[in-house]
Amino acid sequence: MMAKKFRERFKTMDDVFDQFTIRNIFVLASKGHFVDGTLSPLSIGKEANVFSAERNDGSRAVVKIYRLSTCDFNNMYNYLASDPRFPHLKKKLREVVFAWCQREYRNLLATRDAGVRAPLPLAFLKNILVMTQVGDEQPAQKIKDDVPKPPQKFFAEVVAEIKKLYRYGYVHSDLSKFNILNSDKHPVLIDFSQMVPMNAPNAYEYLKRDIENVSDFFRKLGVKIDNGKLFREIVAVGTRKA
Ligand SMILES: Nc1ncnc2c1ncn2[C@@H]1O[C@H](COP(=O)(O)OP(=O)(O)O)[C@@H](O)[C@H]1O
Ligand SMILES: [Mg+2]
Repeated sequence: MMAKKFRERFKTMDDVFDQFTIRNIFVLASKGHFVDGTLSPLSIGKEANVFSAERNDGSRAVVKIYRLSTCDFNNMYNYLASDPRFPHLKKKLREVVFAWCQREYRNLLATRDAGVRAPLPLAFLKNILVMTQVGDEQPAQKIKDDVPKPPQKFFAEVVAEIKKLYRYGYVHSDLSKFNILNSDKHPVLIDFSQMVPMNAPNAYEYLKRDIENVSDFFRKLGVKIDNGKLFREIVAVGTRKA
């Protein structure tokens, strides 16, 4: 009986999510994190389906739901296993996905402390993460779709965000034109599930990769960038003592 009610409520999600996830969406809505029944799809990614939803105060939330099927949980496990914040994690699909989701929440909290421009995390439950939406009614677009002008100034602002993160002791690890939004001509970084502390193995390789991906995009827009020089400039900022 209850199951049927849930099913009616989330008709559109029925094909995508299991009953467990659908129930937890309802739990989060009933706790007041977003208005029940207002989820509208924003994106279907490799691991998660992302929705925009109304909040009680009329602003908008983004609800990121990691799928319990069709996810590359081996890749998730490898990242988590090298993150000192997640010791003793068992290699079981559900545990790994829940930890992954929790990690993105914790990473978003860390970005607040670091003063980085990123969404504010609101809640997480199992495989569901709720955060503020960047952009008011309409979500802000990715820089690949809303190309920043002038690029030089915007790029400098992105570098400033990378430095803030580094100073705080972290590297985003999946930074590119796909995970930087253009919010009123200023960058906002998103998608923090892969962010790791600088003491994790490979952290400096991830930093180099982030620099390459971001530089590739801005270089095509005419910005002159020396990747090696930029790397040294970021590292020269130093990491604060934890
Ligand atoms: N807080 C947010 N505000 C606005 N749009 C967002 C937000 N979070 C995600 N999005 C949109 O949803 C897309 C997918 O989210 P993302 O966290 O990057 O997941 P994925 O791991 O699938 O790339 C983003 O590219 C962006 O367009
Ligand atoms: Mg992304």
